Parts: sequence; C-alpha cells; structure tokens
Amino acid sequence: MTDIILLGPPGAGKGTQARRLVEERGMVQLSTGDMLREARTSGTEMGRKVAEVMDKGHLVTDEIVIGLIRERIAAGGAGAGFIFDGFPRTLAQADALGALMDETGRAIDHVIEMAVDDEVLVERVSGRSTCATCGEVYHDRTRPIPGDGRCVNCGGTTFTRRGDDNADSLRVRLLAYYKQTSPLVGYYYAKGLLRRVDGLAAIADVAAAVAAILDGAADGPAAAETEAAGA
Ligand code: AP5
Repeated sequence: MTDIILLGPPGAGKGTQARRLVEERGMVQLSTGDMLREARTSGTEMGRKVAEVMDKGHLVTDEIVIGLIRERIAAGGAGAGFIFDGFPRTLAQADALGALMDETGRAIDHVIEMAVDDEVLVERVSGRSTCATCGEVYHDRTRPIPGDGRCVNCGGTTFTRRGDDNADSLRVRLLAYYKQTSPLVGYYYAKGLLRRVDGLAAIADVAAAVAAILDGAADGPAAAETEAAGA
C-alpha cells in the first residue's frame, strides 16, 4: 500500500493525475477541494461559510479540513493507498496529517511536487470543465469534451465550470499557495519525502513520471538528488 501527497499550485494537474491513479491502480483520492464543494451544497451554515471563502480563493480553516480528512482516514477503505490531493496546505495541516497517519499505523511514502510556471495556470483553470456526474476533468484546448458531448468515463452529458476558476480568484489562490502552502516543499524535503515531476509536460508524460516514482523506477528523493548534485 502506498500513500502519497500531490503538491502544487491551483491548476498544476493534481486532480487529473489523482483520477488516473484511482483508475489505473485502485488508489483512493482524498481531495479536500471536492469534499468542500460537497459541503457547500449541504445548505448548512458551515456550507454557506465555506462557499464564501472558496469563491474568494482563500483557504478554509485548518479545523474544518483536518476534521474532514480525519473522518475519511478513520473510515478506512484505502484501497491500494491514499492520494492526498490539495491537502495538506498549511504547516498545521501537515503536522495534523502526520499525527493522523501515526495513529492509524500508516505513513506517507512520497510527496510529489508538480512543478509548473505560473503563466500556464490561468490558461489551465480558465479552460477547465468537469463532468457533473463523475468529476472527470477536461480542458477546452488540451483535453476537450468529445464531439458527441459525452463524458469518456461515464457518458454523462452535463459539464460544469467552477465558480473560483476566474482570474481574480486565481490570483488570491496563487498568493495563498505561495504564502501558506509552498513552505511544505521545504518541510517534506527535510523529511526526505519530496519528489518532483515536470507538471508542464503532457498529461500522459506526467503520469509516466508519477508511475516511475510509485514503482521505484525514478531516481531517489529530491533531497538526495540535490545533495548528490552539490557533492
Ligand atoms: P482545490 O479543489 O484543491 O483546487 P486547487 O488546489 O486550486 O487545484 P485545482 O483543482 O484548481 O487544480 P489541479 O491541480 O487539481 O488541476 P487539474 O488537474 O484540475 O481547492 C479549491 C478551494 O478549496 C481552495 O481555493 C480553498 O478555498 C479550498 N481548499 C481545498 N483544500 C483546502 C485545504 N486543504 N485547506 C484549506 N482550504 C482548502 O487541472 C487543471 C486543468 O489543466 C484541467 O482543465 C486539466 O485538464 C488541465 N491539465 C492538467 N494537467 C495538464 C497537463 N499536464 N498539460 C495540459 N493540461 C493539463
């Protein structure tokens, strides 16, 4: 069983790669973004607050997201391993995840940083659409919805665009990434867990690089690579 974290800014391709790992390896995707989008439709006071924060591009409180992840891990059903997608996003969340994993006798095997240039992110998120039935992710240019208007995965015919996929919200989301989430690169580097893939490559090439890490065919952790380069 392999537990991994996919780390990267909005639009880096975390969700796209996570879905492939679910289909190809039977891993289980734990996306806090998806969980929060579900919560916002619940009609509760908490859901209303979450919606407001998400639409502006800010991070939801650590307390809420850690609670969501705790419930999912406790429920078990990890399949071939958990893929943490969009979590952790702060140092407090990373510490909490470490404690939760310890409690359940699990451990993070790899933290895969998806490296991209900021310039491509606007284009990626503004062209994104999602199958309303199964969550399959498309892009107007790089992964268009098939000509017959049916989802390749489930045949669904309704596709949605996210409320926070606009230039203003993306700017705030990027700022949140650099201020609150990017310190996790150093955090996991120090733990010897950090691996990097080129998120600018074609979707299939990114998937191959991720697969090489999971199968142990890639070079060692980013920390070890950097040390070797400096030696
Ligand atoms: P969340 O849903 O996690 O969004 P995000 O991190 O901003 O990431 P995205 O889903 O936008 O991008 P992605 O990396 O998954 O890219 P994708 O694969 O879709 O979070 C949303 C909000 O929820 C946050 O802003 C926050 O408010 C809240 N939240 C969530 N988690 C939280 C937490 N832990 N703590 C606090 N708040 C939290 O790809 C994007 C597009 O690019 C697609 O169209 C895809 O087809 C295309 N694409 C993907 N890969 C490639 C490629 N290699 N080449 C070309 N196109 C590609």
